[in-house]
This record gives sequence, C-alpha cells and structure tokens, in this order.
Amino acid sequence: MAPLTNLQTRAVETLIHPYTNQVTLRETGPLVIERGEGVFIYDTDGKAYIEGMAGLWCTALGYNNEELVQAAAAQMRKLPFAHLFTAKSHDPAIELAEKLKEIAPVPISKVFFCNSGSEANDSQMKLVWYMNNALGRPDKKKIISRQKAYHGVTIASASLTGLPNNHIDFDLPIARVLHTSCPHHYRFAHEGESEEDFATRLAADLEELILREGPDTVAAFIAEPVMGAGGVIVPPNTYFPKIMAVCAKYDIYMISDEVICGFGRLGTPFGCTALGYKPHSLTVAKALSSAYLPIAGLMIPDEMYQALIIESKKIGTFGHGFTYSGHPVAAAVAIKTLEIYKRDRIFETAAARMPLFQKRLKELGEHPLVGEARGMGLVGALELAADKRKKQPFDGKKGVGAQAVRHAEAEGLIVRVIGGDIISICPPMIIALAEINELFDRLGRALDKTLDWAKREQLLAA
Ligand SMILES: Cc1ncc(COP(=O)(O)O)c(C=O)c1O
Repeated sequence: MAPLTNLQTRAVETLIHPYTNQVTLRETGPLVIERGEGVFIYDTDGKAYIEGMAGLWCTALGYNNEELVQAAAAQMRKLPFAHLFTAKSHDPAIELAEKLKEIAPVPISKVFFCNSGSEANDSQMKLVWYMNNALGRPDKKKIISRQKAYHGVTIASASLTGLPNNHIDFDLPIARVLHTSCPHHYRFAHEGESEEDFATRLAADLEELILREGPDTVAAFIAEPVMGAGGVIVPPNTYFPKIMAVCAKYDIYMISDEVICGFGRLGTPFGCTALGYKPHSLTVAKALSSAYLPIAGLMIPDEMYQALIIESKKIGTFGHGFTYSGHPVAAAVAIKTLEIYKRDRIFETAAARMPLFQKRLKELGEHPLVGEARGMGLVGALELAADKRKKQPFDGKKGVGAQAVRHAEAEGLIVRVIGGDIISICPPMIIALAEINELFDRLGRALDKTLDWAKREQLLAA
C-alpha cells in the first residue's frame, strides 16, 4: 500500500471520519478532495471524478454554482447573523418559508428551520409529543418508523433510523420508537408473492403493530418516499396508499422525510407526490440549499401550529430552537437555490433525463455480480449478490461492495457502498445525458474488474 500523503496523515491524526472504519482508515488514508466543477470533483493530485453521489445525496446544482456563492457573499456582507428567538426575525428566513409554503405538496401552515436532517427529524418527534400533550392525549406518543429507514444520527433520529450500525453499542433505539417491516420486495417478499400482495401484507403488519401497542399510544409514522441510505428501496406502487389508509384509521400523524427525495429527485418537486401519498408534515434538508450551506426544515400543518398556540398560552413560550435556526446566509443560499430550480426548470430537465438514467442502471442488473438493479428518478442502487439466482448476498466481511467502490474510484467515479454490498448512485440533478452515459460506462468497467477479483478470491457461488 502506498505511504500516506501529508494531508492523509494529518486527516488520520486529527479527524474522526463519519461512517468510516477507524482501523482500516489508518492504513488506507482518506481520499482528499480539493475542488469541484459541475458534476466533477478533483482530488489533491488533480484527478477528476464524476460525483455519482452528489456528495451525500445533496449537491443538486453541482459544484461551482457562482450564483449561490454570490448569494452567500451578499448576505454575509449585509447581515451575517440574525436569529429568530424571542420575537426577532429577518427577511431571508421569512422569504424562504414563504417559498417553501408555495411549493408544498400539502397545505403547510409554518416552517421551522434547523441545520441538518437529523435535527429536523428530532424536532419532528418533539413536536409530535408536544402536540399530543396540547391535545390532552399524553399517552399517544409512540413513533413508528421502518426497518432500514434512515432519518439521522441524533439520539431521537438515530432511534428512528432502522439500521443496526446506528444502534449497536449506542444503546439505541430509545423507548417509544418502533420499527415496522421494510418495503423491499426483492429481499423480503415471500416466494411467489406479488408486489401487490407484499404491500397488502406490510400494511397488515403495520396495523398489527398498532393494535398490539394500542392505537391510543401510537402518535406518528415516519417514512422516506424512496428509502435512501437503507439501500435505495423503492416500495411497491400500492404500498403508500395502503399504509396511509392504516394511518388514517388510527389517527396517526404522517411525516414524510424528504431529505433525499425532496426537490425533484424522483421527478416531482416532492417525493411523496411521486409515491402517491399526502403526509401531514415534511422534513427537508440537503438539496434545499444544494448543500452549499447547512439548512433543514420542518414544514408543519395548521393542526401542529394550533398545538403550539395552545402550549404558548399554557407555558408562555415555545421552548425549542437552535442558534442557527433559519441562519440568514444559509437561508439566502436556499432562496437562490429554489429560484434557480424554478428559473432553469431543473426538475423538469432532470425528469427528462431520468429514463436514460434508469435504463442504464437497469442494464447493469444483467451483470453477473448484480442481484438487483433498482431505482427511481435520478437515484439508484445495485445490490451485489454471490448467487444471482438465489439472491444470496456475499459474505459481508469480504468487502465486495467496498472493492467495487475502489475500482469505481480508479475509473474516476464516486459511488457509495451502503447497507452491505449495495452500491448507491445519486448524481447531481444537473447531470447531462452524456455524463449519465459516462457514469454508467465507468461503473460497468468497475463492476467487471470487481468480478475478476471476486472470481480470483472464489467469492462467487459455484
Ligand atoms: C432521509 C434522510 N433523513 C435524514 C437524514 C439526516 O440528515 P443529516 O445528515 O443532515 O443530519 C438523512 C441523511 O442522509 C437522510 O438521508
């Protein structure tokens, strides 16, 4: 292995890198990125990579959008900080909330800003508890999430997340968070079960869980439209309508976590529209500012706002908020981002490119290493399998997915391995047709090399 460069050594000696094996990192060092342009990022040797993950599913407008830079600089000069506490306000936060209300897929009364998706989902959970206290339902507090969901990493949002690595030895999940079945047909359907029957069974699972716990104790259900970090899981067509009927039956507040799927990723402004459901509340982050600055938000309905009014009458204030809730510079960048989405028809243009993206993705489903190629809009995943026919995964310890990511990097492509040997792809929304083709050409070559390696290591089922 090549000796670490100066920056790599300093990184290893100073930083905790999230979602990284802290042991192997000491040998391999991190890939140090220096700059970006369009859908490309460049490492410190000047090598170019297609950013096939839009950073962390977030840099929708790519890497050198000068208008976003100017929006931030102008706001920094005018008013670099202002807050929304204790009856203070400022124009950028007001305007951004107005714009979000305008494009919301359901009636939204107010927007509460925070800095990350985790904080936003944490706040969603607190608000649900607060609301049910305001409404005189102190026992209706449990929140149902799903196995393989990803909702963040703070204590509450990591509890909502349904992935073992976010729970093991962190002593999570906390009480009053439950997880129902994951809508992944390929992995969890019974032999011969149709997508429709699978969706019906999952809705029955949810109902059974609610009845077992007691409907008067279950407050909310939270879901991503397409599950992201859990494996880019696209539910069956009828899944959400069936699930929503169960939620409605037991008066369960529905939160759509749009942190990845919001802002055009699935071909509609919000993912819930593409998946055919109407939530009560939405969580937004990431592409809200094209990730140029951290900002996230909760878009809440009037029933939630009325609960805050009741509590303010009772307590005298709303005891929640972050120093940087609605930070003016982040808000200014988000306003500009939304303006560009509209002016440049970013969602529509991306939607026109989605068929090619999905076609090239699904073609890789034929590769001997790929068990399932799945996706929707401009997001996809390849689930690698040791035995394609039997859907048998590789031994996780062999690191086949990680090997594919390394080969992709050698080809000049950034993709990510998630949830075992699943390769995720989620490029910036501005990716051009030729760049989509180039992305999948590189990914195909990386898979071929990974296959050769896996054969040499005798990792494929005989
Ligand atoms: C669907 C979803 N919700 C919440 C989060 C957490 O966001 P953050 O990392 O900004 O806390 C993420 C992050 O990837 C996400 O994908």
